Amino acid sequence: MHAGREDLADLGLHAPPIDLSTTYPSYDARAEAARIDEFATTGARLDGPPVYARLDNPTVARFEEALARLEGTDAAVAFASGMAALTAVLLARASQGLRHVVAVRPLYGCSDHLLDAGLLGTEVTWTDPAGIAEAIRPDTGLVMVESPANPTLAEADIRALAHSCGSVPLLVDNTFATPVLQRPVEQGARIVLHSATKYLGGHGDVMGGVVACDEEFARTLRQVRFATGGVLHPLAGYLLLRGLSTLPVRVRAASTTAAELVRRLATDPGSPASTTRGSAAR
Ligand SMILES: Cc1ncc(COP(=O)(O)O)c(C=O)c1O
Repeated sequence: MHAGREDLADLGLHAPPIDLSTTYPSYDARAEAARIDEFATTGARLDGPPVYARLDNPTVARFEEALARLEGTDAAVAFASGMAALTAVLLARASQGLRHVVAVRPLYGCSDHLLDAGLLGTEVTWTDPAGIAEAIRPDTGLVMVESPANPTLAEADIRALAHSCGSVPLLVDNTFATPVLQRPVEQGARIVLHSATKYLGGHGDVMGGVVACDEEFARTLRQVRFATGGVLHPLAGYLLLRGLSTLPVRVRAASTTAAELVRRLATDPGSPASTTRGSAAR
């Protein structure tokens, strides 16, 4: 409720302001150019105005701060969509010469496609959780898992998986669980990805993606975002921050509804899940 909003009372505001600026006033062209260069090469967040909206945006930064707090990470970096977020992660690792990804199926279809088609020059080894340690190579930059997975809802033991990864970062796509139900970093994951388009937004009216991680990796992601342009629009940042306010209540309601659906389907003679047909709800 409060993360990303702590300064509002001092500003005399209740709702976060939406900053739609694409460019910001510049009084010293040489100094501003130096700030852009520094951002491009370090990815460290700027003090003062963002210079240009592809570097940073104050409204989006509020959402990033709130999401990082929820996931228990140093930082979060927001993108135009979940796929833009995954793209940035893969490019960030490839830029460090680590083009190989070990991934556990099932993954969301487009994540599977992006990896399998090698569109970004990455190479993937598909494996099950038991095969991770064996699949890791010297150029492996990432192990990726989705739990619960879209669409099967298969769940992974994140702690065991993280152990198998050794020093290779484990990315968990936490879209379906949300940080209300699962905080992968507490179980050893290093990178958490969301399609914010789903539960974080919560109302079917905003696309976005976000990566929660340590500050070092966040800097590389900001560099990639600046250079490739997959930024989250400030209006989307505002809607996502607003969505977070009701996230725990919505997740609780969705869980209650799901449990009730299971109960009804398990006893409905017309349902394939019905116990009356001998296939107990699992
Ligand atoms: C689990 C999961 N990850 C990633 C994505 C991609 O996110 P987006 O559609 O916001 O690009 C989706 C989209 O359905 C998803 O369900």
